Formats: sequence, C-alpha cells, structure tokens
Amino acid sequence: MNNIKYYLDKVGAIFDAEQFIAEPRELYAPIEYTLRLGGKRIRPTMLLMANALFGGDEQQVRNAALGIETFHNFTLLHDDLMDRSPLRRGQPTVYTKWDENTAILSGDTMFALAWRYFLRQSTPKLQVILQCFNETAIEVCEGQQKDMNFERMGLANVSIDNYMDMIRQKTAVLLAGALKIGALYAGAPADEVERLYAFGIHLGLAFQMQDDLLDGYGDTAVFGKKTGQDIRDNKISFLPLTALKYANEEQRKELLALFAAKDNMDEEEKVRRVLALYQAMNLKNAIEKAIADEFETARKELDGIHADEPRKTPLRELMETLNGRKK
Ligand code: IPE
Ligand code: IPE
Ligand code: MG
Ligand code: MG
Ligand code: MG
Repeated sequence: MNNIKYYLDKVGAIFDAEQFIAEPRELYAPIEYTLRLGGKRIRPTMLLMANALFGGDEQQVRNAALGIETFHNFTLLHDDLMDRSPLRRGQPTVYTKWDENTAILSGDTMFALAWRYFLRQSTPKLQVILQCFNETAIEVCEGQQKDMNFERMGLANVSIDNYMDMIRQKTAVLLAGALKIGALYAGAPADEVERLYAFGIHLGLAFQMQDDLLDGYGDTAVFGKKTGQDIRDNKISFLPLTALKYANEEQRKELLALFAAKDNMDEEEKVRRVLALYQAMNLKNAIEKAIADEFETARKELDGIHADEPRKTPLRELMETLNGRKK
C-alpha cells in the first residue's frame, strides 16, 4: 500500500512535468514563480489519496490535482494583496515582488488555468466534478469576504460561531472539495463521499485554526509568512476571539482597543502588546487544546468511512503530519 511520501512525490512529479511559462511573460512569470515555490501541496495530495481510497485510476486525476492546486495558488495571490502580506513560502509575495495589478491579473489567469486543467481530460463525471469545483470556489470567495467584513465589524461584534462559519468557507471547503473531487473521479458511493467531505471540513477547520496560531506563535523562518500579520491587519482570528473568553475586564478593554487601532499606533508595538496580553492569559494552551479537539473530530469522521483500512493510512498520515505542524 502507498504511503504519504508516495503521494507527495507523485504530486511533485506532476508539477515538475508541467510548463507554466508562456507569453506574455509578465503575466506568466508570477504564475510560474508561485507554482514552483510549491508550498505543502496538501490539496492535490488529498485529491490523489481520496481517489486511491476508492480504487480510482491515478492517471485520471493528475489534471484535477493540477487544477485544485492552481486554484489554491490563485487565492493566495489575491489574499496576500488583500491582507498586505509581504512574505509567503519564505519569499516575497507576488504583489510586492511585482505589483498589485500583476497579482490581480496573474491570479485571475490562474483561476481560468485551473478550469483548463480540469477540462483537459474528459469523463462522464465531469459535469458533477466541475459543479463541485465551482461551488467550492464561490464558497471560498464568500469566506474571504466575511473575513474582510469581520475586520471592519471589529472584535466585539464577531462570535466564535461567526468565525467557524467564515473559516469553513475560506479554507475548509477547499480541503473537503479536493477530497470529494478525488472520490467522485473514483466513482465512490454518495454517502461515503459525504463522509469524506465531513472529514475534510473538520481537518480544514483545524488547519485554519493552526494557521491563526502560527501567525501569533510561529517562526517566520520556518512558517514562511511574516508572523503577527493578523494583528497588524486587525484580523478577527481564532486568537483574539478565544482571548476574549479568558480576559478580565481590564484585559478585555485593552484587547478591544488594540484591535480597533488604526494607523495611529506603531505596528510592532501593537504586535508586542497583543502578544503580551495573550501570554498573560496563557492563551497558547487554550488554542492548542481547541485545535486538538478539532483534529479528534476529523479523526472520528475518517474512522466512520467505509473503505479498506490500509487505504485510509495515507490520509491518517497526512492528518497526523498536519497536527502540530510548524509551517
Ligand atoms: C495557506 O494554505 C492558506 C490557508 C488556508 C491557511 P497552505 O498553508 O496550504 O499554503 P501552502 O500552499 O502550503 O503554501
Ligand atoms: C487563507 O486565510 C484563506 C485563503 C487564502 C482563501 P489567511 O489569510 O489566514 O491565509 P494566509 O495566512 O495568508 O496564508
Ligand atoms: Mg492572508
Ligand atoms: Mg486572508
Ligand atoms: Mg493566516
């Protein structure tokens, strides 16, 4: 039976065999730059694993794997512009290395390229698969809009439930969608597809909560993104929302004031003060506990899928690798 390394290598080989550069180079160079930097490539890896879980043909899903990862990378080009993030995968983001217009247009092109990859191979299931892909893409945009709305609404007006709904859309549906598409190609039974989707949602929720944790506590050199950016952006992430649960009256006031601060405060001073508040509340432990609970829910969903146990192993390995990740 194949292990996680097999699938990661497979995805690597699929991308290595692909040509991303074309004319005009100004449009394609940022696309090539982003896709070659790689990142973890968990979405295409999950797509391949889900396909194999139900006995699918690996050759049939290589273009879908390219498609899902190209879509993910499109969201990153636009997300970095929206979040004003300078660094990704340890390198300058596209809008800083080139400019804002480049991030917009190369990003748009990547969304269309994703469709081109899916359309490369015809299958009777293509309509259902593309429907899943497109509904997923719409949800990601809805989630991204909610993320931006929350920044404006402010910390006091967003609940943990609001937050969970937002991250389900901006992040979890794409992980779940990747699994679902892989399973659809393999012709998996509908109820198993839904179970796999539920697993992907909980894994995706845990994944985004970890991303929020790493923004506060990660190491930029390992994480590849500039830490503290959520604080600079007044992002209503899992960290400040959970902090509100533990804050005393004084801490609550300070946190709300810091998250309402605009350009009148030194950004690095703000990051230091927010992290000091978190420290005083022992926030990291509470966050890690909540993430562990979400992973446990995901684990139970995976247990409930009716498929050959050895075939589930790669997905289990992937989940355990992500659990406690530092990047
Ligand atoms: C980043 O996704 C965006 C989030 C959903 C947190 P990844 O953490 O999968 O980024 P890469 O592709 O590995 O760089
Ligand atoms: C990522 O949210 C969601 C999407 C890219 C759709 P973040 O804004 O937290 O992701 P990072 O931290 O920039 O990767
Ligand atoms: Mg971002
Ligand atoms: Mg964002
Ligand atoms: Mg983040």
